[in-house]
This record gives sequence, structure tokens and C-alpha cells, in this order.
Amino acid sequence: MRTEGDSWDIKTSVGSTALFVAAARVLGGRAADAPAHDEFAEMFVRAAGGEWAELLAGRLPEHPLLAPEFGVQFQQHQIARTRYFDDYMAAASYAGVRQVVILAAGLDSRAYRLAWPDGTVIYELDRPQVLDFKRDTLAATGHRPRAERHEVAVDLREDWPKALRDSGFDPAAPTAWLVEGLLIYLTPTAQDQLFDAIVGLSARGSRVAIEQMDPLPAESVAEMTGEGETGSDWVGMIYNEPRNDPTEWFTARGWTGERVNLTDYIHDLGSTPPDNPRQQSLINLVTVRRP
Ligand SMILES: C[S@@+](CC[C@H](N)C(=O)[O-])C[C@H]1O[C@@H](n2cnc3c(N)ncnc32)[C@H](O)[C@@H]1O
Repeated sequence: MRTEGDSWDIKTSVGSTALFVAAARVLGGRAADAPAHDEFAEMFVRAAGGEWAELLAGRLPEHPLLAPEFGVQFQQHQIARTRYFDDYMAAASYAGVRQVVILAAGLDSRAYRLAWPDGTVIYELDRPQVLDFKRDTLAATGHRPRAERHEVAVDLREDWPKALRDSGFDPAAPTAWLVEGLLIYLTPTAQDQLFDAIVGLSARGSRVAIEQMDPLPAESVAEMTGEGETGSDWVGMIYNEPRNDPTEWFTARGWTGERVNLTDYIHDLGSTPPDNPRQQSLINLVTVRRP
């Protein structure tokens, strides 16, 4: 169960979800025609060692990420969302945005992986120990970011805007914000505070890309809680509560917005979602812009 002010490193509680999604990117990206590839994810997952390295080596066939129903679908979801947010960043760069803030960056490798125009500055925010693991792993391999990159070690339930400004963030410059894999780990109130802070720091021409998930139905929670440690651990990490819809929240404040359901997006990419008949996902991918 979560508590106010709880903390973690890369292998515990909410921190381990960064490894979980990175591992899904490795597995889901192994097909040559996968819609996205994250060539840094494997390095991070291997560096975590233990069960994570075993998983990639194929020695944990019972791992949830390899389960025929959940695992394969989850891998596909992660690769699709990677593609969506990669394209979002490319569009922001094309539109002239040179300031990027990745909230709950975890093992996001976009600063190292994507081609950024000269002058791009990227801020990555996450808990200190998560950023420590990422820095140590990257330092050991000698990779260098392809834009100016700043780590901002914070808790996103606290006064992170001050830490961001102190790191050099310019509120007068348009910003491309990324909120991927974060909202369900915040209470609905903390989500509202996060959005308020983003709006307060966003110059005209800023945009925000968001992964939004509707609450899991009670029967799914019951099913996952009965699935043994991994399932029940994860359900205990999220705030599975109704909350403000991000698209509505931003458009009510004068922003423009668009949203695509993850299942439809996977279809649009030319991949076949495993669901048959086709079911809408609980996940939506959202982009909002401040005119
Ligand atoms: C599922 S991972 C997503 C990481 C990355 N955005 C991605 O999609 O690969 C969730 C991340 O959110 C971070 N996180 C969750 N709540 C946070 C908080 N209150 N403060 C800082 N980071 C937080 C975790 O440390 C973790 O890195």
C-alpha cells in the first residue's frame, strides 16, 4: 500500500515500475518491424541484475511480462506508447520547441536516443535514487545525451517547480512536457496540483503529452490481487480512483486537446491488438497545446 511521502529506489515499490516498463520495451521491441525500438532499455534492465537479467536471458518463463495474455499485450502497449511519445517529441521539435520536461522520467532514454535540434534542453524529473541508478548505468557505458540534459531529483508530490526553475528551466520559453506512466501513481489531488503547476510554468506554444488510464474495474482488481506477488504489488502501488480527465481539464483552461484510445492507436500503427473482438483500452494517449 502507498503512504503519503513514501519513497523508493529503482528496485522497490513505484521505482521498480520503471524497470518493468523498460523490460517490456526490450521484449516488445525485439521484432524488427516493431513500431518503436528503445536500444537503451536492455542496458538498464541488465544493469539491474537478478530477476531482471534472468528475464531477458529467457530463464523466467513464468514472469508476468511473458504471460500469453497480460504480458504480450503489455509489451505491445509499451511499444505503441513509446512510438506515440517519440512522435510527439519530433513534432514539438519541428514546431520550434527547444525546452523539454520529462516528468517521472524513470529509464526514459529519449535524451540519448532521439535526434534533437541544436539548442534543445531536456529536464528529467524523478526520485533521487531512480536518477542515481540511471546516471551510474549510463556512466559505465559512456553514452552521451544528444541534447543538453539536466537531472532534477524531486518528489512530484512536493514543490518540484522550484527545483525545476533552480535547475535553469525558463518559464518564458515554450515547453514540451511529457507525463508518461505517472498519473496512476499520484492521488487525484496530486494530479490536479501537478497539472496546475504545469499550466503555471507553460508559456504560449507549450504542449503536454499524457498517458491517461481510467480506473480498473473492481473485478480486474480482484483478479490481479489474486495473481500472486507481482499483480497484487502493482495494484497496491496505484491510486485506482476516479480523477479529472486530463483532456477536459486542460481544454477547460483554454488549451486545445486531442486524445486517442490506445487500442485504436495500435490499429492505426498497423499492428493487431491481441483483443478479439476489439475492446477499447482503459488507456488514452493525450496531447494538449496552449495556443
Ligand atoms: C512506470 S515508471 C515510468 C517511467 C517512464 N516515464 C517510462 O515511461 O518509461 C513510473 C515512474 O514514475 C516515478 N514516480 C512516480 N511517482 C513519483 C513521484 N511522486 N515523484 C517522482 N517520481 C515519481 C517513478 O520513480 C518511476 O520512475
